[in-house]
Amino acid sequence: MAKVAIMGFGVVGSGVWEVLTKNASSIAKRAGEEISVKYILDIRDFPDHPAKDLMIKDFDIILNDPEISIVVETIGGLEPAYTYTKKLLLNGKHVVTSNKELVAKHGPELLKIAKENNINYFFEASVGGGIPIIRPLQNCLAGNQITEIAGILNGTTNYILTQMKKYSLSFEDALKEAQERGYAERNPSNDIEGHDACRKIAILSSIAYSHYVNYENIYTEGISKITKEDMEYAEELGCTIKLIAMSKKIDDKRVFARVSPLMIPYKSPFANVDDVFNAILVKGDAIGDVMFYGQGAGKLPTASAVVGDIIDIVKHIDKSYVYTWAISGDIEVVDIENTSCRFFVRVKYKDYSKAKDAVSLIFNDCMIVNTHKPIGTNEFAFVTHEMKENEFKEKISQFEKIPVVEKILSIVRYDENI
Ligand code: HSE
Repeated sequence: MAKVAIMGFGVVGSGVWEVLTKNASSIAKRAGEEISVKYILDIRDFPDHPAKDLMIKDFDIILNDPEISIVVETIGGLEPAYTYTKKLLLNGKHVVTSNKELVAKHGPELLKIAKENNINYFFEASVGGGIPIIRPLQNCLAGNQITEIAGILNGTTNYILTQMKKYSLSFEDALKEAQERGYAERNPSNDIEGHDACRKIAILSSIAYSHYVNYENIYTEGISKITKEDMEYAEELGCTIKLIAMSKKIDDKRVFARVSPLMIPYKSPFANVDDVFNAILVKGDAIGDVMFYGQGAGKLPTASAVVGDIIDIVKHIDKSYVYTWAISGDIEVVDIENTSCRFFVRVKYKDYSKAKDAVSLIFNDCMIVNTHKPIGTNEFAFVTHEMKENEFKEKISQFEKIPVVEKILSIVRYDENI
């Protein structure tokens, strides 16, 4: 029988216990032996929980128990998760986690320790919740040169944007709803400012391009400035707005990566990925496009991925997987300023025709958005042609200084080809 410890009994940790308990017999058949939870580590008490007898507060009990071969880390955040994980790996215990923050920051070091100790550090649940994506990238698609990954990688922001679009809600009201439903992280800024999606695209890119992609170098912009008026303009353009995390391999030494709200056409495969669902598109030179879709957050979907990792370890208890990005150094993330895209701009004007003339003069062949319904007073919008980010910055600062322009109301990147 394989004995497991769970560290952190929050949403995901309790989900892992639930799945291991509920599906115990089918899991035992698939793993080749029974898997039972021996300890649950948490600083809180759960006196009414059916697993109350497994609760402990002392990490060293897990670390020093030779019966424990696999530990689930669902504490989240960097500390104490980092210290505990490192000690466990150094002590020869396999670790399975859903903690994208830890994997994105310390993945190379922890994977290296795991390799040196002939054990595993698995993190299928760290990206896409229940969607299998880490293993497909690492194994099934390993024969490809992966050139590009794009995805809706954060369930909370996707839920918020869906509510804004479907029910014309403001960002604040939609966020409140997401929090009431328990989707948002402890600190909602991780979700809404794009940091969660940033860590996830960094992990996927590291696997896909076989080099560590440092999330700290990825340009990241969240959805907190998106308004319901932006959504209405998007509709006029036959588009919707999604938080898209993407990366592209430029050459063996450089990648482009960005997390930002993006205005995308209805025909895009991402346009109808709604609510808490995630979708990930991977481009490979042999497979072409392949898309992964499913519930990207939530207790049981995420627990499903954790339990899959546990079973894999039990089946191959003496085998250590090697993740090449842990040992082959970093790959450079190119500066966003030198990359190109189109921009949607909403403007409040003092004089409509003069402001429109200024758009043509400064941005050349722009698409002016004609709205069929009045969205705001004294405002219009336009979409630029493709230009470098630094060129756009220069032009927009020139434009907003013109006296007939009262204010730039919003700027959203626009991509009709995604
Ligand atoms: N807060 C995350 C999300 C949880 O909304 O996607 C899953 O990583």
